[in-house]
Amino acid sequence: MDFNSSQTRINLMRAFAGESQARNRYTFAAETLKQQGWYFLYNIFTLTANQEKAHAKIFYDHLKNLNGSPVEIPQAAYPVDNYDNAEQLLRAAQHNEYGESDDVYPEFARIAREEGFPEVAFSFEKIALIEKEHGERFSCLAELMEKSKMFSGEKDTEWFCLNCGHIHKGPAVPEHCPVCSSDRGYFVPFKYYKLIAEKYGLPVME
Ligand SMILES: [Fe+2]
Ligand SMILES: [Fe+2]
Repeated sequence: MDFNSSQTRINLMRAFAGESQARNRYTFAAETLKQQGWYFLYNIFTLTANQEKAHAKIFYDHLKNLNGSPVEIPQAAYPVDNYDNAEQLLRAAQHNEYGESDDVYPEFARIAREEGFPEVAFSFEKIALIEKEHGERFSCLAELMEKSKMFSGEKDTEWFCLNCGHIHKGPAVPEHCPVCSSDRGYFVPFKYYKLIAEKYGLPVME
């Protein structure tokens, strides 16, 4: 099939628009959360925003040979998730990630393969798997927030200060880090920090 008249080129443009918007939504969310003192969540949203930018680039590059000719997207819908609250931001992000990974990208991959664009199908398939991980990451953090486990836990919980690396042991995080005086928003349950850092790597604190 000719790429210029394919459904795949439209799907690529939709994916590019979706990733670009996700990147901005997560950047806005990160800023909101940073202002509220949720430094770990700020980092996670920033990290994820950068990954959405990488996805956007992959899709945009597949459109390169259409340079100069716009691609129209008929009847697309995009989320409005402009919340001020961490739980809502996390749950909305989770929902959107699962939408991409479970429905949208697998369908786009199927169509791309059918239309004879296996390299495009490969991108949709692989990025769908990444979006699944994103969904799980947001879901795990939403659960921590909803169960108020971000700052309190079992007797000997280890809490990790993202600023100086101090590990505090106890049922709750201190108001301020005893070593560097950062406020409690810099602390994160150490086991989640390790889990997420091992799996995805974490950006250095800004
Ligand atoms: Fe993405
Ligand atoms: Fe994502």
